[in-house]
Amino acid sequence: MVGREQQEILKWCYMEQDKFSLSWIKAREQYDLKYRSNLLKEQYKKDRSSFDRIIDLGSGNGSFLRYCHCKKIIFKEMLLIDYDSKLLRDFYASTYSYLNGKGYSILKESPTKYKLKKIDIIKTKNIQLMNTDILKSLNIINNYDLISLSAMSDILPTLFIKKLLNKVDKNKVIYFSICFDGNIKWASSHKYDKYILTMFNKNQETNKSSGYAVGAKSIKLIREHSMKKKYNFQIEDSSWQLNSYNESSKYFQKMYLDTIYKPLKKDDITDKDMLSEWRKVKLKDIVAGKSKIVVGHKDILILT
Ligand SMILES: C[S@@+](CC[C@H](N)C(=O)[O-])C[C@H]1O[C@@H](n2cnc3c(N)ncnc32)[C@H](O)[C@@H]1O
Repeated sequence: MVGREQQEILKWCYMEQDKFSLSWIKAREQYDLKYRSNLLKEQYKKDRSSFDRIIDLGSGNGSFLRYCHCKKIIFKEMLLIDYDSKLLRDFYASTYSYLNGKGYSILKESPTKYKLKKIDIIKTKNIQLMNTDILKSLNIINNYDLISLSAMSDILPTLFIKKLLNKVDKNKVIYFSICFDGNIKWASSHKYDKYILTMFNKNQETNKSSGYAVGAKSIKLIREHSMKKKYNFQIEDSSWQLNSYNESSKYFQKMYLDTIYKPLKKDDITDKDMLSEWRKVKLKDIVAGKSKIVVGHKDILILT
């Protein structure tokens, strides 16, 4: 007999995958890099041994690995897992161009195995890519010292988060970075901001991953479950602060606006007249270079 929890997990496992465009994943990297808090680096300074073996769940094209490299967080091996092969396929090209001129190189041994090394130094770091659903990876998390989930917490189902926190062994580090907290603040407000944000947060819970995503409540869930398990729980702000002063920031804000507009346009409950009027005004502000927004995120570091 399969229990209700198990049934929900299985249903989630076989539903249509929530795909992210490569252009969005690439565009957001510089903002995630800039706004992640110091939580991870501070922990690294305290105990480097808990960074030898890292698993990055929902890795996209490897942005977290490049973040670690940029912050001089040295690991021995990293496993990147994502169910979207198009994002994993971009790992090599993006990492190769990121390392250009930094004195490091990335060697491709096979489509799933890579070595990262300092030029002129023999010692290498092993990187492996795995194209699978992270639900199937819970049985291997304890082979790693650090479990990372970046920009993931809100799109995961409650059950997965609970299972992860239940299954993890003692003396591990879990790092949930860039967790959306449900708040978006526009410097020039519009009468529909509150309505659109409410609909967006509802949509995050219902549409992402077929109705099982926890949405902005993920932070509360992770905090409460960590307390229950008596884990050490730390939280810091990692909100994006976006302006529209140049072409690149305008481009990113337009993309972000689309991440709100597109799912709401498809749902059955959002008022489409309000939505398109709201979008028109926001777009005008971006084009005019007047749009400033804060997208609420938190970083969470858990020591088990
Ligand atoms: C918002 S993106 C974040 C990507 C990456 N962590 C980053 O910070 O750039 C969410 C990622 O999770 C992946 N993903 C979502 N659900 C997944 C699942 N059940 N199994 C594997 N990957 C998943 C998506 O394909 C996507 O790459």
